[in-house]
Amino acid sequence: MSPQPQAAVGAPLSRVDGRLKVTGKATYAAEHDIKGVVHAVVVDSTVARGRITGIDTRAALAQPGVLKVISHLNAPKLAYRDNPASIDPLEGDRLHVFQDDQVHFHGQPIAVVVATTLETAQHAASLVKVSYDAQPPSTDMADPADRPDWKPITYARGDADKALDSAAVRLDVTYRMGRNHHNPMEPHATIARWDGDKLTLWDKTQWVPGTQVELAAVFGIPQESVRVISPFVGGGFGGAIRSWPHVTIAAVAARETGRPVKLVLSRKQLYFGVGYRPTYEFRLGLGSDRRGRLTAMVNDVTAETSTYENFVEEGILAPGNMFYSTPNVRQEYRTVSLDVNTPCWMRGPGYATGSFAVESAMDELAHELGIDPIELRRRNEPAEDESNGLPFSTRRLRECYTTGAREFGWHRRNPKPRSTRDGDWLIGTGMAAGVYHHLYWAAQASVRLNADGTALVEAATSDMGPGTYTSQSQLAADALGLTIRNVTFRLGDSRMPVTPPHGGSMTMANVGSAVQDGCDKLRKQAIELAVEDEDSPLYGADADTVVVRGGRLYVKDNPARGETYQRLLARNNRTHLEVLGSYTPEESHRASVHSYGAVFTEVAVDARLGLVRMRRMLGVYDVGRVISPKLADSQALGGMVGGIGQALLEHTVMDQRDGRIVNADLANYLVPVNADIPDLKAIYLDGEDHEADPIGVKGIGEVVQLGVAAALTNAVFHATGRRIRDLPITAEALL
Ligand code: MOS
Repeated sequence: MSPQPQAAVGAPLSRVDGRLKVTGKATYAAEHDIKGVVHAVVVDSTVARGRITGIDTRAALAQPGVLKVISHLNAPKLAYRDNPASIDPLEGDRLHVFQDDQVHFHGQPIAVVVATTLETAQHAASLVKVSYDAQPPSTDMADPADRPDWKPITYARGDADKALDSAAVRLDVTYRMGRNHHNPMEPHATIARWDGDKLTLWDKTQWVPGTQVELAAVFGIPQESVRVISPFVGGGFGGAIRSWPHVTIAAVAARETGRPVKLVLSRKQLYFGVGYRPTYEFRLGLGSDRRGRLTAMVNDVTAETSTYENFVEEGILAPGNMFYSTPNVRQEYRTVSLDVNTPCWMRGPGYATGSFAVESAMDELAHELGIDPIELRRRNEPAEDESNGLPFSTRRLRECYTTGAREFGWHRRNPKPRSTRDGDWLIGTGMAAGVYHHLYWAAQASVRLNADGTALVEAATSDMGPGTYTSQSQLAADALGLTIRNVTFRLGDSRMPVTPPHGGSMTMANVGSAVQDGCDKLRKQAIELAVEDEDSPLYGADADTVVVRGGRLYVKDNPARGETYQRLLARNNRTHLEVLGSYTPEESHRASVHSYGAVFTEVAVDARLGLVRMRRMLGVYDVGRVISPKLADSQALGGMVGGIGQALLEHTVMDQRDGRIVNADLANYLVPVNADIPDLKAIYLDGEDHEADPIGVKGIGEVVQLGVAAALTNAVFHATGRRIRDLPITAEALL
C-alpha cells in the first residue's frame, strides 16, 4: 500500500486529554462515583519483625458507622495461586495479607477498618490495639543479620581480576545510592466491588491486564471474573506496575462487607505500602591502558530486598556489560534480605542506578588520565554489543556527544577542577551517557471506523503521564487518514485488547505497533471495499495507489478521483468497519536495540555552605522515531528532574532501630521544585529504528533519567575538586 501522508505524527500537539485534566474531569482511581461505596483504612504494623499476639478491636467496632475490622483473626483464606505472568520477583512469594500472625516489616498491613465514612474509618483504625512479640529487626544493608540468602547474579567475560591487577591505570572505588520512593502525585488507590463472584476494581495501575491476572490468582478465580478499570493514572514511575497488598485488601473488605470499598493509601503509607528503588552499593574496579582503552571492569553490586521476595533488576549489570568496549568484565550482583518490604521498578530501572557508578567511574578515569571525558568515551565505543555479540541496530551515541558538546558549549570548558568562579559560587560542568534497552512485548488494539467518519481505537494500556491518549491518537489519525479530532483513543479497561506493562518505555513502541497494524488493516479494508464497488469513483483503481487524508480516500497521483469514508460506508450499508490490530515481536532478535542519550550540565556550588545549584542541563537523545515532540519533551524534562532529585535531594531515611521510615512525607522527603530547575533542554536525533518495531520507535521515558545523576556529580567534581560517591549529595559531604 502507498505510505500514508503524515500530518499528526511529528506535530507538537498538546494533550488531547489536557482539558479534562486541568478542569478536574479526568477520573482517577479514587474519584469514580460508585453507588453505596464505603471506606477502608489500613492498620499498619508498628514493629518490623515478630508475631502479632493480639488485636483488640472493641473500641474500633464500638464507633457508629464501623462495619468491620478484618485481620488474620477473621480474614478468609485466600488462594494466592502462582502468577506466572508476573514480572515481579520470581524468587520468593508476595506478601499474603491477613493470612497469619507474622510481621516482616514496619508498616506491614495487619488489619483493615471498614466504615461508612472515611473519617470514621480513620478514627476507628487509630483505636485498634495491637500487641506484638517483637524481635530486633535487621534493616541495615551494611550490617545484615542472618536472613535467607538469595542467589547472586553473576556475569563474566575474560579474566577481569587479572586484567585489573595488571592495568596501567586503576580505579577502585565505592559508590552508594540511597533508597528512593516514587512519590507520584496521585496516591495509590482502589475501589473494589463484587457482583456475585465477579470482581471489579477501579485501580491506579500501570498494568491493567497484569492487575487482572494477579487478583484472579490471589482469589483463585478465573481471569474473566476480574475487571480492572484505570482510565487515568496520576504518575507512576514504576511504582504501580505490580499490585500491592492494598488492592487485595480492598477486595477482601468488599467481599466481607458486601459493599463496594474505597481504599486510598495515605501519603505516609506510600513509603511502605508499595515498593521503592532499593539502596545500592557498587564496589567498582576499572582498569585501562595509558591511552584510556578500558582493559577491565570489576563490579560488585549489593542491594536491599525483603525476606520474602528477591527483587532483582538485571539492568544493573548492563552498563558494565555493554556501555563500553571492555575485554574483561566480572560483575556480581547480590541482594541482602532485610526486614523491609519488597523494592520494585523505578524509572530507568537498574540502568539509572547501575549507570551512575559506571558513568562516575568513567569521569574519574578521564581525570586520572588527563583525557576529556567525551574523548574517553569515544575511545571505548564498542563495535558491537559485547555482552551478546549482536550488532547494534542504531547506536548514535557519538552523534549525541557531538551535538551535545556543540549545543552546550563543552569546548569552552577548562578541564582543571575548581578553576571557574562566579562570586561565591564555584562553577563546574559535567556530562554522562545513558543507554536503555528496548523491550519487546506483544500487544493488541481494536480499531473501529464509524459511518460518520470518526474512529475509536482501544487498548488496555495506561497513561500515567507520558501522554498515551495523545500519541496513540496521532499515530492512529495518520494511519487512518483522519484528522486527530475525529479519532478517539480509549485505554485503561481490562475488557480492551491486551497490552504490556505501561513501563519500561514499552507503550509507544509495542502498543503503538498494534495500533498501527489495526489502522493499516482497517484502511486497507476500506480501500478494498471502494475499489471493488462499482458505484465508487475508485472502482477498479489499484488499491496500492490509494491513500486517505482528511477522511477522504483518493488515488495518490490523481487526488480528484476519490470519496469519503462516510459516503463509502453509507452506500454499502455499513454502520462501521472494525478490526483487531496486533503486534507480535519476533522471538529472537538480530540486533542489540537500545535508546541512547548524553547529558550535559552546569552546576554552581557554594563550597562554604555546601549548596549545589543546577544551572542548566541539556540532553541529546537517540530514541528512534519521535511520534509526539511536545510530549517527548515532557518525558525528557521529567526524566531530568527525576535524576536531579536522585542526585541532589531524594533519600528515604530509615530508623535502623525499628525499621520506621522517618521522612515519610513530602515535607521531609525532598523532591525538586521549580526553583531547583532553571533551564532544561532536550534534543532528539532524527531517525527511525525498524529493528525495534514496525513504527521505528525505541522509547523515551526511561533513558531520559540515565546519566543525569552522574553528570551532576561529575560537574560538582569539576566545580570543587571533591568527588561525591554517595547519593544524594548532602551539604555536609561538601563541607
Ligand atoms: Mo517504568 S520503572 O518501567 O514505570
